[in-house]
Amino acid sequence: MGANFDLKAYLEERRGMVNQALKAYLPQVRGPAFRLNQAMHYSLFVGGKRLRPILCLAAAVAVGGDAGEALPVACALEMIHTYSLIHDDLPAMDDDDLRRGQPTCHKQFDEATAILAGDGLLTAAFHTIAAAAPRFEGREGVLLEVLQTVAAAAGYQGMVGGQMLDLLAEGRQVTLKELETIHRHKTGALLTAAVRAGALMGGGSRAEVTLLTGYGEKFGLTFQITDDLLDVEGEAAEMGKAPGMDEKRQKATYPAVLGLEATREWARRLVEEALTALKPFKERAEPLRELARYLLVRRA
Ligand code: IPE
Ligand code: IPE
Ligand code: MG
Ligand code: MG
Ligand code: MG
Repeated sequence: MGANFDLKAYLEERRGMVNQALKAYLPQVRGPAFRLNQAMHYSLFVGGKRLRPILCLAAAVAVGGDAGEALPVACALEMIHTYSLIHDDLPAMDDDDLRRGQPTCHKQFDEATAILAGDGLLTAAFHTIAAAAPRFEGREGVLLEVLQTVAAAAGYQGMVGGQMLDLLAEGRQVTLKELETIHRHKTGALLTAAVRAGALMGGGSRAEVTLLTGYGEKFGLTFQITDDLLDVEGEAAEMGKAPGMDEKRQKATYPAVLGLEATREWARRLVEEALTALKPFKERAEPLRELARYLLVRRA
């Protein structure tokens, strides 16, 4: 690995693995609510980097575990993430028309269907985790801790709470400290949970779980900082969503508070800190290292 590690090929392989599993966990069934099922499928499979599931699998492997075992929870994280995007794009929230290179769920279907598609994905996620219990026979406690980790990260003390803070900060001057709190909650929490859940399922020691959680926190914050940067500097064709929306909605972002150059510097420092947390890990953590470096060069 090291210099020979091919991140692009790795991501492609993992994306394929995740997509195949997602299709199995969320089959398209014709029934009275077929329209809802269609909307859930549309948003889930129209695109997406699958970063949260990939991080979860990579963390399981980093502690010597098996990626396959972590797959249901990894997929559940993607369902929760996709639900958060559908709701984030609603007119009452960020009011966006383009997502993953296609019309947003409420544009393709309608607002009510988009709300329900989000609800459907969120609940399907927890069903998927519970249904994985047979894989954890004899160590059900691990799955329960994962469940608690994911629920806390997704809910009012995590992502949903962060989304509230994000909306309340619109059009207002925020301090750097407030901004960090928003980003850690709305985006950092779920990414951190992905890494932590993977480390737990992979059988990591307490010390390893703590180190990887620290990595996840740095990663998660940096991910939203670079999302803010892309909103200023990125291209719709690469990102699959419209840039320039943060300024339009007067969102609390790092470029707005710190300026572009200081924001880039901040992101570089955080990536260094994320890499430091991985120091005690050997080759098996190479994907996590490359994923952290990728944050500074990503275009989507
Ligand atoms: C976008 O997430 C929303 C944020 C939390 C910044 P991603 O950039 O991971 O979006 P997809 O899943 O690849 O579409
Ligand atoms: C998203 O933040 C956070 C979520 C929980 C979805 P943004 O609102 O910046 O995400 P994008 O830029 O619309 O993807
Ligand atoms: Mg938003
Ligand atoms: Mg948004
Ligand atoms: Mg954004």
